[in-house]
Amino acid sequence: MAQIGREVYVIGVGMPKWGELWDKSLRDIFVESALLAIDDAGVDHIDSLIIGSMSPGLYNKQEHIASVMADYLGVKGIPATRVESACASGGLAVRTGFMEVASGMHDIVLAGGVEKMWDGEDFTMVLATAADQEYEAFHGITFPGLYAMIANRYLYEFPDTKREDLALVSVKNHKNGAKNPRAQYRKEITVENVLSSTMVADPLRLLDCSPVTDGAAAVILATKEVAEKLNKHPFTQIVGVGAATDTIALDKRDSLISFSSVRKSAEQAYKMAGLNPQDINTAEVHDCFSIAEIIVTEDLGFFEKGKGAIAVREGKTEIGGKIPVNTSGGLKSKGHPVGATGVAQIVEVTEQLRGESGDRQVKEPKIGLTQNMGGTAGSSVVHILKRR
Ligand code: COA
Repeated sequence: MAQIGREVYVIGVGMPKWGELWDKSLRDIFVESALLAIDDAGVDHIDSLIIGSMSPGLYNKQEHIASVMADYLGVKGIPATRVESACASGGLAVRTGFMEVASGMHDIVLAGGVEKMWDGEDFTMVLATAADQEYEAFHGITFPGLYAMIANRYLYEFPDTKREDLALVSVKNHKNGAKNPRAQYRKEITVENVLSSTMVADPLRLLDCSPVTDGAAAVILATKEVAEKLNKHPFTQIVGVGAATDTIALDKRDSLISFSSVRKSAEQAYKMAGLNPQDINTAEVHDCFSIAEIIVTEDLGFFEKGKGAIAVREGKTEIGGKIPVNTSGGLKSKGHPVGATGVAQIVEVTEQLRGESGDRQVKEPKIGLTQNMGGTAGSSVVHILKRR
């Protein structure tokens, strides 16, 4: 797939602090992020609103949220679309906004994501609706349980990988997240902390898991003409986009240790961008559990299959390493309000490319990648951004 239609630029980003936001409503947190992005872009209007959200009906008893958010943002009347693909809803919202601008349909689009998970009665049950109900969830397995099976298989197939290597993913991401003022858990942790934290689903412990989070994020996508007219930030273009699906049920897969949706979405994005994995200078990937980051970095082509955990041990994914991964703190430390996660990844990479990441800035990155997935990679979305 070559570059299609008009060039698309990220001209504004917005993300307030994430966490347990008991004093704010679903609409409050979305509007706050949208206003930050609009202000950052310096636009006086938007033509269209796209919003990614997995399950506001179950968490907050509110559906029809695209119209609700357009109204409370003060832009009622414009087209507003909700996009859902479980934890990949945010990435898919950005892809949908990209298509609206690239196609010539709209010049300025706000793509955002939101989830307010603490309001729900049972977040584990709501998350499990993204698994296969008939073959998985009805039998009692949860997402930590599914990823635990994946982790066990990985450790069996690659005995050079040690249990401690999984813990090192969380240690690295908390180190980065401690420097991110918007992260939910801003504390550094040790391997010993991870290995002694509460067992959730063997071998995954509490500190191998992304947390439950309230949060929102938004970006403004626009044409080159709009970006040049505003001329407010270094130009950041979306040069590659990919999206793919796989079976939701793990038992229907050929392999538990490689995600075909991640490989396919990455192939599309690299092809559109005319780039390969070695060209990427910084990446935000979907570390919903420590094992996920390892498998995803292999499937994106950063490391050979079976070598992802060793790369973490050798510091290759640290800031200053060969390919810094999850400079924001990732889902693990920054938090994982599921529908907002894919949009927040674009926020982080855009700020990295602009040189605005403060203490966690990668040295002069030119090209960044985001990878966001639904469930156990039943869906995956990849974006590649380039500083012009
Ligand atoms: N990382 C770091 N700290 C965490 C944490 C996490 N993932 N989850 C909870 N904590 C902290 C809490 O703040 C609390 O600290 P405190 O005692 O100082 O207040 C402590 O750990 C215990 O928290 P608690 O709320 O009792 O944890 P829990 O057992 O209810 O939930 C998990 C922990 C891991 C089960 C929950 O976060 C979870 O389900 N995560 C996975 C979410 C998921 O599946 N997402 C979709 C991915 S596909």
